[in-house]
Parts: sequence; C-alpha cells; structure tokens
Amino acid sequence: MKRVLTYGTFDVLHYGHINLLKRAKALGDYLIVGLSSDEFNQIKNKQSFYTYEQRKMILEACRYVDLIIPENDWDQKIKDVQELKADVFVMGDDWKGKFDFLKPYCEVVYLPRTLDVSSTKTKQYLKEKMSA
Ligand code: CTP
Repeated sequence: MKRVLTYGTFDVLHYGHINLLKRAKALGDYLIVGLSSDEFNQIKNKQSFYTYEQRKMILEACRYVDLIIPENDWDQKIKDVQELKADVFVMGDDWKGKFDFLKPYCEVVYLPRTLDVSSTKTKQYLKEKMSA
C-alpha cells in the first residue's frame, strides 16, 4: 500500500484544495494530511477563519482523505515521513523546491496549483462584502 503525505491549513475549504487532495490520493492508496494547528498558524502569521477542530471535521468528510494529523512546527516532516511510512510527499507548486530535503526519505512531488482560488482570496472577498 502506497502512502501519501501532504500538509496545509485547508481553511474555508475550496475546489483548489479538493483538486490537490484528489491528485494527491491518486498518487497512492492512503492519503494523510498534516493539518496546521491554530498555534502553528500563529507562528506562520496566518489567521484561519475556522478552528483546527472545524477544519479537521470538514476534511474528514472528504473522500480522498484517510487520516489527519496535526502540523505543529516546521521541523516535524522528516519524523512524520519515517513514522507514518510515507512513500510520497506532495504539495502544490507554490512550495516548489522547499521540501526537497525530504528526497532522501521519500518521493517528493509538487502538483500544479489550481488557478484563481485561495482561502485568503475568499476571506478577503467575504470581508469586503460584509463591510460594504
Ligand atoms: N492549493 C492548490 N491550489 C490552490 C490553493 C491551494 O493546489 N488554488 C494547495 C496548496 O499548494 C497546498 C494545499 O492546497 O498544497 C493547502 O494549501 P493552503 O495554504 O491551505 O491553501 P490556500 O488556499 O493557498 O491558503 P492561503 O490563501 O491562506 O495561502
């Protein structure tokens, strides 16, 4: 069984996320998502609209996702790949090259990002609508 691992905040889940998760799952048989914790988002200067538990609940309903683990810091990836026995590490190509240090441990794949959609864009749009 080929195990695939990806990470992200997946806030205000959108079709770009689904497109990523669908293609990630197709690279193997079992998809694990490292979901950024609220504390880690703070470190990254990101404020999610939904809490970790809410984002987790939404992702759990996605047919492509088999397991969700928390992402708590930048340095857990090598350990996660080893402990979770991941064969493939996958991210959108906005991260191209950033995780090449995982290549001695597993296959590293960057998938083309879906154009014209992001959580930040959606939140910005809603904010403008609500204050209009
Ligand atoms: N992703 C993608 N296409 C998009 C948006 C995201 O393929 N249009 C991918 C990212 O490359 C990453 C995963 O989805 O591998 C999770 O990304 P995340 O940062 O949570 O989503 P964004 O919508 O990019 O969030 P933000 O706007 O806050 O950066």
